[in-house]
Amino acid sequence: MRELLKSTLMAAAILALILTAPIMRGQSGGAAGSQSTPSPHEGPTAGQQFKNLQVLKDVPADQIFPAMQFITASLGVECGFCHVQGAFEKDDKDEKRTARKMMTMMFAIDKDDFDGRTEVTCYTCHRGSSDPVSTPIIPDTEPKPEAEETSAAKPALPNAGEVLDKYVQAIGGADALHKISTRLEKGTLVGFGPTGMPVEVYAKAPDARVTVVQTPRGQNVTAYNGQTGWMSGMGPSRPITGGELDNEKRNADFYFAADIKTEFQQIRVAREDKVGDHDAYVLMARSPGRTPVRFYFDKDSGLLLREMRLVETPLGRNPSEVDYADYRETDGLKIPYQWTIARPGGRFTIKITEVQQNVPIDESKFAAPAPSAVMGAKPGTP
Ligand code: HEC
Ligand code: HEC
Repeated sequence: MRELLKSTLMAAAILALILTAPIMRGQSGGAAGSQSTPSPHEGPTAGQQFKNLQVLKDVPADQIFPAMQFITASLGVECGFCHVQGAFEKDDKDEKRTARKMMTMMFAIDKDDFDGRTEVTCYTCHRGSSDPVSTPIIPDTEPKPEAEETSAAKPALPNAGEVLDKYVQAIGGADALHKISTRLEKGTLVGFGPTGMPVEVYAKAPDARVTVVQTPRGQNVTAYNGQTGWMSGMGPSRPITGGELDNEKRNADFYFAADIKTEFQQIRVAREDKVGDHDAYVLMARSPGRTPVRFYFDKDSGLLLREMRLVETPLGRNPSEVDYADYRETDGLKIPYQWTIARPGGRFTIKITEVQQNVPIDESKFAAPAPSAVMGAKPGTP
């Protein structure tokens, strides 16, 4: 019984991870038109969609899953810590009732003491544990003497324009980039279970991209076609909205490497960091009302190594990272043959084995499902 509960919840968690992870990106630049202003939410509220919400009933329905992922990661638990199998609406567990009180407390603190900004979150206190530490810890060993202040000045950072220009050069230059207008990639998704799952990515300039994963339980699609974004797999398709849509648009931007400069209102080099054993410059990119993004560019090669996104939920920001590797020159353009997508709940890798560029791709691949099918989707239904 416990095992069954565990495996069902596990399946739900994996599905959520696949479905909400922005799966792929082509290294290319894109349509300058991908700048977007946040549109007022049109979908149902969570209270209309779910059975027993008391604190979160007024948020958009499609925010419930991301919010649940946020608290699960913040406490370092699984969904089953608070929920009973097959009945997320039931209040049978003390932990769920406590979590509801904690949400009310958190909203009150942020409203009263932080002008309504989401500053204190579950993670601020819990730090990945269900039992936060409230007492200072006595260390086992003597404290180390303070390191001598280094007076050496920090090396100056380049400006963002230099880093972005070097990136375009590193992949082969703007001309090579714009010579390609479609890309079909085939490969394998590894990270869940012992065997990989087949993946196909269809991308077309200026901004359409469809990723299809063949899971043991059927096809999983993540798509943006220049107008709308959607996901499907195990049930009806659902629209991609909010911060996830920002990310999906960027993924689909075929000439992204050239467009990145104009895509954000503000982009600056914040610091140096490491990605694996590569030294990298970290660029912070922001636009009002949109998901902030951090880009990590290799100091030596100039290539994009990592993209880190922070997507708002009603309870805090969910981080996710995409690491790019195994860049290979293909038709004069360097593109990554490997992506690793990581979230607090897990990670998976896509390895590309076959790339075809400038081949025709049937328009039907980019056709969004009928609006009724999308609107009828129940985003939160596990
Ligand atoms: C720390 C406790 C906790 C964890 C962990 C947690 N939840 Fe929840 N969940 C809640 C609380 C509390 C509510 C009710 C919120 C309210 O009253 O507004 C809720 C509500 C829900 C609902 C709405 C149910 C309904 O119909 O009323 C769904 C669906 C849900 N959670 C799914 C999940 C999933 C999936 C996970 C794992 C990714 C998860 N939850 C992890 C505490 C938790
Ligand atoms: C200001 C600090 C703080 C914040 C913010 C906070 N918590 Fe807690 N939480 C605690 C403390 C302290 C405890 C332990 C109380 C105890 O031991 O009785 C706790 C206990 C819990 C428990 C019970 C754990 C168990 O083992 O029974 C749950 C569930 C929980 N918190 C969920 C949440 C969620 C979900 C959020 C965000 C919506 C949150 N907390 C935000 C401090 C916080």
